[in-house]
Amino acid sequence: MDKLVIRGGEALLGTVRVSGAKNAALPCMAAALLTDEPVILENIPQVRDIETTRRLLAAMGAEVELGYGRAQHRTTIHCKTLAAPEASYELVKTMRASTLVLGPLVARCGHARVSLPGGCAIGARPIDMHIKGLESLGAKITQNHGYVEATTNRLKGAEVFFDKITVTGTEDLLMAATLADGETVLHNCAREPEVTDLADLLNKMGAKISGAGTSTIRVAGVAKLHGARHRIIPDRVEAGTFIIAGAMTGGDLNIAGCNPAHLGALLDKLAAVGVKTKQSGDTVRVMGDVPLHACDMTTEEYPGFPTDMQAQFMALATQAEGVSVITENIFENRFMHAQELVRMGANIKIDGPHATVRGKTPLSAAAVLASDLRASASLVLAALVADGETIIDRVYHIDRGYENIEEKLRGVGAQIRRIGEMFPRKTAAPATNA
Ligand code: EPU
Repeated sequence: MDKLVIRGGEALLGTVRVSGAKNAALPCMAAALLTDEPVILENIPQVRDIETTRRLLAAMGAEVELGYGRAQHRTTIHCKTLAAPEASYELVKTMRASTLVLGPLVARCGHARVSLPGGCAIGARPIDMHIKGLESLGAKITQNHGYVEATTNRLKGAEVFFDKITVTGTEDLLMAATLADGETVLHNCAREPEVTDLADLLNKMGAKISGAGTSTIRVAGVAKLHGARHRIIPDRVEAGTFIIAGAMTGGDLNIAGCNPAHLGALLDKLAAVGVKTKQSGDTVRVMGDVPLHACDMTTEEYPGFPTDMQAQFMALATQAEGVSVITENIFENRFMHAQELVRMGANIKIDGPHATVRGKTPLSAAAVLASDLRASASLVLAALVADGETIIDRVYHIDRGYENIEEKLRGVGAQIRRIGEMFPRKTAAPATNA
């Protein structure tokens, strides 16, 4: 199994380029199931979850070409016929986002069979709202042997109320509604930029969606969707992770190719901590080497502070003077990184959804274990400022969502190398997240 070896103490200097957003690319790939014409997606990040989705779609009968050479960030997905509208446990257990195929499959094929994802390292993460929403559109849902089966002659437009804001739930229903008969109104929707990106693609495919990016989305169903070409938005979590890396290491780092408008809550919070940033066009410059002070932070749905940046913010808080209380509101078990940070010298106490971080504490290198994707990122950040050589085990988690993280960090001065097998590997990673 791969490990990352990081020697701390280098200030990050120069420019690092952000890849396409994994969490936008995954639903956009699933959207290709809605048409028998090719869908071309650009700015696809080369991460493991994309390869898992390629295998998932290919197993259903789709032709999926993942680019090579100069076209390495492009994929063409052609779902001419879908012989097996199914998502097996083998694939769903490695990537929960596989459940995103449920809506498009039942809308296009009238039948879908998708494995229930089960528990996950960051929380229970049920999919009851996907199921309830599809039932509102008239799908008949049964659950047997660990699978959800949905059938319909044709979905019918309806009013859907999400009891809780769910990102992939909103995306799943949005895709299903595009081919339903009549109008669907989705209430209490997720407003994440990834939802808007999906809606943009679907509209290019001939869907009639309005209101994406607000909490009420209207979809006028159409009989058929066609092929389209679409560029995936930049990854705001990767960008945020690099901004924090620049701030923690006291560097001077340009994070290029991002969309600063998607980083509002993070940049506001970093300003409160004392981090100096400057935006120009698609670049955020972070100028470190300034004193950091403690600041409380609470995760919320977009446009609030993203849960996907909570672990990285915790690493930053260990280097800020004073007491920061971090409250995790979205997932019930997303503090697994805290104990690993404590092993590196951090002072963190967990009490239910609250983590109290007392800083500033010097960090010292240790052998640590990554428990999920964003937890791995926080350990990388801690290692970049730790005294000595940190070894991070189970980095397959980081490969699920960060493209070439060690090359990108090395390019701006970090001392980081990978030992063990090289990505990509043929076998699925034994992870259950994202
Ligand atoms: N929830 C339910 N029922 C449902 C769906 C969700 O109770 O049917 C609950 C969840 O258990 C959670 C909350 O609602 O407590 C929000 O979950 P959500 O459905 O929004 O999460 P998700 O769609 O499964 C996506 C991202 C996650 C990100 C969350 C929150 C993708 C592929 N995944 O997950 O990304 O943390 O939204 O923003 O878009 C990551 O990239 O590391 C990652 C975990």
